[in-house]
Amino acid sequence: MIRIEEVTKRYPDGTVAVDRLSLEIPDRAITVLVGPSGCGKTTTLRMINRMVEPSEGTILLDGADIRRQPVTALRRSMGYVIQNAGLFQHRTILDNIATVPRMLGWGKGRARARAAELMERVGLDAALAGRYPYQLSGGQQQRVGVARALAADPPVLLMDEPFSAVDPVVRKGLQDELLRIQDELGKTIVFVTHDIDEAIKLGTRVAVLRTGGRLAQFAPPAELLSDPADSFVEDFLGADRGIRRLSFFSSAGLELTTDPVVPAGATAERIGSCDAPYLLVTDAQGRPLGWSRPQDLTAGDAGPGRLLPYGRPFVPGTDSLRAALDCAVLSPTGWAVAVDCGGRVTGVVSQQTIGEAIRGAHAGERAGSEVAG
Ligand SMILES: Nc1ncnc2c1ncn2[C@@H]1O[C@H](COP(=O)(O)OP(=O)(O)OP(=O)(O)O)[C@@H](O)[C@H]1O
Ligand SMILES: [Mg+2]
Repeated sequence: MIRIEEVTKRYPDGTVAVDRLSLEIPDRAITVLVGPSGCGKTTTLRMINRMVEPSEGTILLDGADIRRQPVTALRRSMGYVIQNAGLFQHRTILDNIATVPRMLGWGKGRARARAAELMERVGLDAALAGRYPYQLSGGQQQRVGVARALAADPPVLLMDEPFSAVDPVVRKGLQDELLRIQDELGKTIVFVTHDIDEAIKLGTRVAVLRTGGRLAQFAPPAELLSDPADSFVEDFLGADRGIRRLSFFSSAGLELTTDPVVPAGATAERIGSCDAPYLLVTDAQGRPLGWSRPQDLTAGDAGPGRLLPYGRPFVPGTDSLRAALDCAVLSPTGWAVAVDCGGRVTGVVSQQTIGEAIRGAHAGERAGSEVAG
């Protein structure tokens, strides 16, 4: 574990970049530092690998003061990824990734084999190995940066706005990839961003810093959204706090009904037996085709041409309550369609039922926190 204890950084010109910061950074989790420009995020990150020395306070790695460790050994235990990847322009992709193993004295063959393995791990095509950084897209370069940081398998990964320079679609891909890699490798990651959505998506815990390098709040993302410490954090979180928080509740407990679900070509009797305002028509495999009012659906008619779109379905348990609510809001009937992982309908659920589940989840959480408190 990395412990930052009462750390202050005052630069020679008097700027206080970090002010009495204390943080416990847990092992094998992603801790995000987020806050407005100039609030001391980069300074904090660089104090962890001693690229910047604190003016006051102590940083401990597994209980030992990092000032007592040789700086080279400390940095080798910490991969470092920066915005725009910071690659060596005159080295090929493979040799960029092999840099640290080579520095550690690995033979060329072994270092390159390791680099090739990492290219695959971060989702880079092996065909790119012989290219130079300028021959790669920004997103690919960022992946190389991550691979290079992982090459010597350091327990700690320090990442300073690694995905800020790429467009939102590529960025989402990189974030998903990082979460997948983290699932496999379980590194201790300290991740800096100024994007609160990125912080909420990636962080196990999120430290919100305010200008002047002071800690405003340090909490898991769901708690930030439900209980911002003050108006600064609340403003920083931005709009839709309530809706975004629903991402942390599972849709597993939603009560589904199959009552209004009918196969294409259903009998008049089956259609007539439903008293729902809309019926969801499915194909022979049980996949959704669309919605219809019962009176518009004639017996034996597949009628997909006259059906209302069913929107985007959700997968109970896999998707969150936010996803389920989004399905219901986007559905022309106000009902969300639930499917299994094969895309077959497992039931439908109304906005009202989702609303009740949301209230239930909030109430359960309040009861939980009362017990915990
Ligand atoms: N070498 C330096 N000398 C003097 N002041 C510095 C130095 N490096 C950073 N600062 C100042 O310290 C404060 C914190 O800088 P830092 O780079 O840590 O912020 P940041 O949160 O990473 O910002 P950004 O989001 O813009 O990257 C800023 O006011 C900055 O101007
Ligand atoms: Mg910075």
